[in-house]
Amino acid sequence: MKNFENKTELSSYVSALKGNGSTIGFVPTMGALHRGHLSLVNSGLEENDLVVVSIFVNPTQFNNEEDLIKYPRTLEADTALLETVSDDRIIIYAPSNEDIYGNDIQSQSFNFDGLEHEMEGAFRVGHFDGVGTIVKRLFEIVNPDRAYFGEKDFQQLQIIRKLVELHHLPVEIVGCPIHRAEDGLAMSSRNARLSSAHRDVAPFIYRTLMSAKIKFGTKSAQDITEWVHTQFKTEELLELEYFIIADITTLKPVKRKSTKKSYRAFIAVYAGDIRLIDNIALN
Ligand code: PAF
Repeated sequence: MKNFENKTELSSYVSALKGNGSTIGFVPTMGALHRGHLSLVNSGLEENDLVVVSIFVNPTQFNNEEDLIKYPRTLEADTALLETVSDDRIIIYAPSNEDIYGNDIQSQSFNFDGLEHEMEGAFRVGHFDGVGTIVKRLFEIVNPDRAYFGEKDFQQLQIIRKLVELHHLPVEIVGCPIHRAEDGLAMSSRNARLSSAHRDVAPFIYRTLMSAKIKFGTKSAQDITEWVHTQFKTEELLELEYFIIADITTLKPVKRKSTKKSYRAFIAVYAGDIRLIDNIALN
């Protein structure tokens, strides 16, 4: 397994590979890898000769200092996990803050045609500037043919697509389905920090999303939203931050359903001090 901490060394290594005709897939992560990440890596391996996995807890996308400090950092275990997938076709890039930001840890500000102001953007101010900054830098360093992002962060996926379109970045963005535990909880690096009581109740989130999907056939978005709020009042250990049914292209909340448009339900919930997000396609 090749490991890099330095962007210049990684860039020249990858560009030599590309010069020899190899295609490069890229899976950007913040580490604490789980089966969801591995499925992105596997998709990358199916469609490219090699896959670069970056492991970097990006400080500029955290709007909560404590969340940044407590974010799990498990590089050794992550490396061991990636070795089980492939020993010779994965390249790890685990840079320091300095390698990425020098001594100026700041985000650039972006206009993503308004996508950045909805949902996560409204509740985590500055988050998507941080994501845009790091992803754009990583794309410039790695210069991949394809990059893989999970649909769990569906808003992030749409924003990355917009970033690529607006900045004419030469990379194909591939969205991959959400991976769930057997009880339905969407895989997330944050799940490892749930108390056992919170872990036990957390599948309620997905169960509620599935019921919302069924109701979507006959009920209005407003009725479903009200129903979801009532449901969460019965779950003491979970606190609903938002539930929004939105158009998948504009990410704007739906006012009146149209059969010509595609919608998803998006949810953010606190389980103690751990914030979990999830979403489901409705039609
Ligand atoms: O989805 C994530 O883990 C992060 O937002 C990403 C894309 C790796 C950027 O830091």
